[in-house]
Amino acid sequence: MESFKVLLVYTFLLFNLIPTFNTLETIVLGQSLKQNETLISKNETFEAGFFNFQNSNFQYFGIWYKDISPKTLIWIANKDSPLQNSSGSLNLTDKGTLVVLDSKGVMIWSTNSSKTATKVTKPIVELLESGNLIVKDETNPDDVLWQSFDLPSDTLIPGMRLRTDLVTGDYKGLVSWTDTEDPATGLYSYHIDSTGFPQVVITKGNKLLFRVGSWNGNILSGIASTTLYKAYNFSFVITDKEVSYGYDLLDKSVVSRYILTSAGQISRYTFSDQLNSWQIFFVGPSDQCDNYALCGGNANCDAANSPKVCDCLEGFIPKSQENWDSQKWSDGCVRKVKLDCDNNSDGFLKHVGMKLPDTSKSWFNKSMNLDECERFCLGNCSCTAYASLDIRNGGSGCLIWFNNILDVRKLPSGGQDLYIRVAASELVLLTNISDHNTGSKKKKLAGIIVGCIVFIVILIVLGFFMHRRRKKLEKPGVIPIFSFENQTESKENEDIDIPIFDLPTIANATNNFSIDNKLGQGGFGPVYKGKLENGQDIAVKRLCNTSGQGPKEFINEVKLIANLQHRNLVKLLGCCIQNDEKLLVYEFMINRSLDYFIFDETRKSLLHWTQRFQIICGIARGLLYLHEDSRLRIIHRDLKTSNILLDKNMIPKISDFGLARTLWGDEGEGETRRVVGTYGYISPEFAIRGFFSVKSDVFSFGVIILETISGKKNREYVDYDDLDLLGFAWRMWSEQTPLKLIDETLRDSFVEAEPEISRCIQIGLLCVQERADDRPDMSAAVLMLNGEKSLPNPKEPAFYPHQLGSSSGTSKLHSNNEVYSNNEVSMTLLQAR
Ligand SMILES: *[C@@H]1O[C@H](CO)[C@@H](O)[C@H](O)[C@H]1NC(C)=O
Ligand SMILES: *[C@@H]1O[C@H](CO)[C@@H](O)[C@H](O)[C@H]1NC(C)=O
Ligand SMILES: *[C@@H]1O[C@H](CO)[C@@H](O)[C@H](O)[C@H]1NC(C)=O
Ligand SMILES: *[C@@H]1O[C@H](CO)[C@@H](O)[C@H](O)[C@H]1NC(C)=O
Ligand SMILES: *[C@@H]1O[C@H](CO)[C@@H](O)[C@H](O)[C@H]1NC(C)=O
Ligand SMILES: *[C@@H]1O[C@H](CO)[C@@H](O)[C@H](O)[C@H]1NC(C)=O
Ligand SMILES: *[C@@H]1O[C@H](CO)[C@@H](O)[C@H](O)[C@H]1NC(C)=O
Ligand SMILES: *[C@@H]1O[C@H](CO)[C@@H](O)[C@H](O)[C@H]1NC(C)=O
Ligand SMILES: *[C@@H]1O[C@H](CO)[C@@H](O)[C@H](O)[C@H]1NC(C)=O
Ligand SMILES: *[C@@H]1O[C@H](CO)[C@@H](O)[C@H](O)[C@H]1NC(C)=O
Repeated sequence: MESFKVLLVYTFLLFNLIPTFNTLETIVLGQSLKQNETLISKNETFEAGFFNFQNSNFQYFGIWYKDISPKTLIWIANKDSPLQNSSGSLNLTDKGTLVVLDSKGVMIWSTNSSKTATKVTKPIVELLESGNLIVKDETNPDDVLWQSFDLPSDTLIPGMRLRTDLVTGDYKGLVSWTDTEDPATGLYSYHIDSTGFPQVVITKGNKLLFRVGSWNGNILSGIASTTLYKAYNFSFVITDKEVSYGYDLLDKSVVSRYILTSAGQISRYTFSDQLNSWQIFFVGPSDQCDNYALCGGNANCDAANSPKVCDCLEGFIPKSQENWDSQKWSDGCVRKVKLDCDNNSDGFLKHVGMKLPDTSKSWFNKSMNLDECERFCLGNCSCTAYASLDIRNGGSGCLIWFNNILDVRKLPSGGQDLYIRVAASELVLLTNISDHNTGSKKKKLAGIIVGCIVFIVILIVLGFFMHRRRKKLEKPGVIPIFSFENQTESKENEDIDIPIFDLPTIANATNNFSIDNKLGQGGFGPVYKGKLENGQDIAVKRLCNTSGQGPKEFINEVKLIANLQHRNLVKLLGCCIQNDEKLLVYEFMINRSLDYFIFDETRKSLLHWTQRFQIICGIARGLLYLHEDSRLRIIHRDLKTSNILLDKNMIPKISDFGLARTLWGDEGEGETRRVVGTYGYISPEFAIRGFFSVKSDVFSFGVIILETISGKKNREYVDYDDLDLLGFAWRMWSEQTPLKLIDETLRDSFVEAEPEISRCIQIGLLCVQERADDRPDMSAAVLMLNGEKSLPNPKEPAFYPHQLGSSSGTSKLHSNNEVYSNNEVSMTLLQAR
């Protein structure tokens, strides 16, 4: 995670125009553009003229978006030779060349056109709606003599293309500026490298820094994406003479640009009218694994394993174990077993979800299929890997590599299949393993071994168990952990006999409930991290205030809870009851909880919209299971972001479910003497009347949705009118600007996800409506999230003014004698009926 860099600061360019100016539509022969004049495109999208940066007198001729403020440049003519002061002009010569002249008429910049030799009769300069500045001959208007799109600056906009000549290798690409306010040619270049199979790269001088990658038919291979960009049409065209890459917008209302920053990062921005600013969508390089060939040859880079991001590919071992261990990866990896090409016995291992290796030492054929490709690769002893050239429609074409495999990485999403050649002996071992499973192969091997051990342990335990039953032991003993659970769905028909730990085991695992092991304070008591002797990480909840229930009832209740199994519920591994201690043992969640991410200024940028949406949907499914699909019909009663735990794949798991029931017995729906909940998440009927139902959980779920979208806490949110988050969300909704609610850091996925985000905001508001009957139940909410149910208009939610009990007209809640705790801890209150 550390490898994530905070995204770039906006590359806004502040510059000044000469104050008074005329606008022109064209420049014809004999006319010139002075410093107080600008040229505008027909529909006034772009404007061209002279400008200077705020802290400098140097004058440049450039093109910018006319209506976007602050001014954003897309092109500069004389970037390496500025005018010294504001008395120059842009002239058109009778040969059809454009020149920038200083006050004395000395030429400081000029266009270069191969076409100037032909006779030009009536040259004319025009700025097109696309942002392209062109010179054409009015007597032959289709023949463009010169265009600014052929001479890219640091910005790529729709219609413009990166081009590389396949004969000479000369390229036209983006060139970075020296500095954010100095457009002189900088160090970095973004272009197509045509060696081998062409790929888009960022270089610094001759040094390759980052490969965005080769074209796979949809997108460049290094871009992690499972969803295609609906508004965009990227295209990569290879002809005999030239290869080019660029994009067009299918949705013309989108304003988009790529910029190569002076720091050498390529970023894609889209202008949002709603937020009136540029939103960043893509930036590369963006993590450690984007550094070209960081891991050396034959190794895979996986940013998820940070800091140890490098791992040898299967069938390879570090060239120098010592260097590898000290994280000096540049030597890379070598084969465990030499290839045996002559005996024709080698084979291939399939790697899924990969960014393809460096294609500069590769060969390709468009018409071969994957089988032919495999055979072809086997037939050439220096071939080390192959892949489909084009992944559309099930894959076509053949791309093969020679020598070392360089710069591959596992992508967080998207990516494609890569087949890497290994010796027969490696293949047998590894492929037999992969028959069983589909994850990473090393894990599979481990999985099999662990599987066998678990099986044996189960047998032993079963034996022990039966033995124990016969003896009818009174006192709970230690039972090794095991369970028959399958990972998919509930298995309520097979009751699980829950493991019961003894206190010394747990005390040992949690270092005697040491403060260092404390993960947090939950509603029902503190939670500790622990490690069992078998190495398994656990989370231990130490229940407090649990008097009034005997050990037997407690264990029965825990068993019922343990039987609730769902992929979006935290798994209960066992319990312990001894000496007035009641402990619950859960699986440990490496990514902590939702609040740990969404409310933290730096960590929130790690959660993109797709992940947040998946988390929201996961919570909905878990809650639906508790409410309707499980045997028990559990009302959670303390649903909040800190109770949504995240596993290593960021899958949400609801925790603390069933605890209210476990501790106080089955109260069903209705009124209760005990109000449990957390300020900010409790529904009004629950807080005021102590009445609870599944709809109280729906309310808390709605708060979680809005918090996840906004990155703000309901209970701490302060609007200018002292509204909490719900009040603010409602106001934005009423004013038809709901998107003002969204977290700044969600801009990454803004345009594509906009309808989805709007839908979620609406669902969130539906769930927090004041009257419980108006709120959807969880099955309706799940359908709404899936887009399978139309959304009614929400009514006003129950929101708290910032100060409880203040006499603001929006006050919906009146507290009686409750004392709300000031921290995030759940509270338990006794209320008179
Ligand atoms: C440039 O244009 C200006 C104004 O039209 C004119 O006075 C000047 O002579 C031109 N210079 C050249 C070199 O054509
Ligand atoms: C532009 O500047 C020229 C001198 O450089 C001046 O003659 C002309 O009047 C100015 N035009 C406007 C509209 O200010
Ligand atoms: C200019 O705007 C008009 C009306 O909005 C539109 O019909 C026309 O296609 C636009 N022209 C260009 C070149 O975009
Ligand atoms: C503008 O700069 C040129 C040199 O490029 C100089 O000769 C001229 O005198 C300057 N004019 C003004 C008004 O400063
Ligand atoms: C113009 O072309 C000439 C010769 O083809 C070349 O030497 C010169 O660098 C070019 N200038 C620009 C600005 O491209
Ligand atoms: C995308 O662009 C390519 C090349 O310019 C073109 O052939 C194709 O038709 C475009 N696709 C769409 C959907 O417009
Ligand atoms: C390859 O074949 C030759 C001759 O058939 C044999 O001697 C050699 O051991 C084989 N190599 C391997 C690695 O199987
Ligand atoms: C590509 O593969 C096809 C089918 O195998 C073959 O006919 C063609 O000659 C190959 N092209 C090249 C350039 O090797
Ligand atoms: C393998 O392919 C490379 C590159 O196409 C070629 O130079 C070499 O001759 C081939 N070797 C064999 C044995 O076909
Ligand atoms: C792998 O499977 C093949 C046949 O499926 C078998 O011949 C071979 O012995 C197996 N190898 C190992 C190591 O299990």
